[in-house]
Amino acid sequence: MKVTRTKTMKRLMLRALPPVLIVLLIGSGGLAMDRGELAKVLKTIPPNGPFWKYGNVVMRAKSRKAGMAPVVFAHWSHRSRYTCRVCHQELGFSMRQGDTGITRREYLAGKYCGACHNGTIAFSVKEGPRQNCKKCHMENTKDLEKQFATFSDNLPMSTFGNGIDWAYALREGSVKPANMLNNAGDAFDFPEKLRKPLKLGTSSPRSDVSFSHEEHFAELDCSSCHPDIFNIKQKSTASFTMDANIYGSFCGACHMLVAFPMNDCKRCHRSMSNSADY
Ligand code: HEC
Ligand code: HEC
Ligand code: HEC
Ligand code: HEC
Ligand code: HEC
Ligand code: HEC
Repeated sequence: MKVTRTKTMKRLMLRALPPVLIVLLIGSGGLAMDRGELAKVLKTIPPNGPFWKYGNVVMRAKSRKAGMAPVVFAHWSHRSRYTCRVCHQELGFSMRQGDTGITRREYLAGKYCGACHNGTIAFSVKEGPRQNCKKCHMENTKDLEKQFATFSDNLPMSTFGNGIDWAYALREGSVKPANMLNNAGDAFDFPEKLRKPLKLGTSSPRSDVSFSHEEHFAELDCSSCHPDIFNIKQKSTASFTMDANIYGSFCGACHMLVAFPMNDCKRCHRSMSNSADY
């Protein structure tokens, strides 16, 4: 089923957002953390902000020193064109805000943003008859917000994050991100023996999570997760618990910032609902 968004639906959804996180932890034993404590942690998940803001990264450390407005990078507009792999493996952007330490000298030499913003693939970073400085060094974000409205109009909806079901958009082909920028070498085939989803979690039926390597490999590289985030052996990753996810570790490294956020319980816990009675 494909849902097309309308302005009214959007407004309704925005209104329906906040009440989601009342979590009652009734039921089975075998939890890794005391239930009452986990309930408290679950309640700390920030409510979903405006859709257009989710996954935006503000870079200001270097700009501020140079008297330039901060740079606002929107994941949504870029991830519809390129997989995570292109930027986070091929072009070497870090997955931590501010960590790449981009300088003007570097991007003018064709690194980072400059790999694409060269006047051919996308508008240029260079000085010239047309200056595009303000497109990245944003004095305000009004245009970005407007662009989002047009951008998201024909994409399948979800309740959280960007309000876009990216996984579905990818499957049905309404976004077709390129897997590589410079066709240097072939990406290797997906290993057959990883095709079966892994069962993660404890013995508690509520922690029953199925993890698909295949779905993640469509966007990411093995090195996005191994060995830094997860061990390459099932059930061997130390301290891998739901509360750690919420603090931004493990699944939360992406699923709190760019991929659909932790509020969306049922997308990982298929048998849970997103409401109080999960
Ligand atoms: C066009 C390039 C590009 C693409 C494509 C891209 N990213 Fe990023 N990503 C960035 C940049 C730039 C940053 C900020 C890095 C910095 O501040 O040093 C970033 C930061 C992040 C962060 C940290 C955000 C924060 O607020 O701390 C995460 C997590 C992340 N990316 C995940 C992803 C995932 C998952 C995908 C694919 C769905 C993806 N990225 C696709 C360029 C990209
Ligand atoms: C892999 C290629 C690629 C990389 C890397 C990349 N961009 Fe883009 N970017 C594009 C394309 C393509 C467009 C859309 C075409 C255009 O507007 O010229 C775009 C558009 C934009 C826009 C216009 C508004 C929007 O979101 O559509 C901004 C702002 C922007 N990029 C900022 C950045 C910044 C900042 C970086 C580095 C941190 C960056 N981009 C890295 C390809 C890239
Ligand atoms: C495609 C996006 C993009 C465009 C266009 C762009 N910049 Fe930047 N610029 C960045 C990013 C990303 C940083 C690093 C941000 C930070 O850490 O504060 C940066 C940082 C800077 C810095 C401070 C860092 C340093 O090395 O001195 C200056 C100065 C700067 N830009 C000038 C400009 C000028 C002038 C223009 C227009 C001619 C321009 N930029 C256009 C993305 C862009
Ligand atoms: C991105 C995927 C993801 C999302 C979204 C998610 N979880 Fe989890 N959750 C997990 C994983 C993975 C585990 C198993 C961790 C482990 O091995 O203990 C887990 C475990 C749990 C457990 C069992 C705790 C334990 O210690 O055994 C509970 C309860 C739970 N999650 C509740 C929630 C609730 C409530 C939400 C929504 C607010 C949610 N989860 C959203 C991935 C997710
Ligand atoms: C989005 C993150 C992510 C990506 C990308 C990823 N993995 Fe994994 N992988 C995991 C998780 C989570 C586990 C389970 C770890 C645990 O339970 O402690 C795992 C487990 C494994 C295991 C052990 C399976 C078993 O049955 O014991 C192998 C082998 C593996 N990964 C290989 C790969 C390879 C090869 C790639 C690239 C094709 C890859 N992974 C990409 C997250 C990822
Ligand atoms: C390195 C980044 C990254 C990590 C780590 C990661 N994911 Fe994801 N995951 C993604 C991206 C990107 C998508 C595509 C959908 C989106 O962006 O919302 C995705 C999609 C999914 C989907 C598919 C949802 C659907 O509707 O088809 C599930 C389920 C999921 N992730 C669970 C997990 C679990 C469980 C973990 C931890 C074991 C995890 N992910 C770790 C990036 C990540």
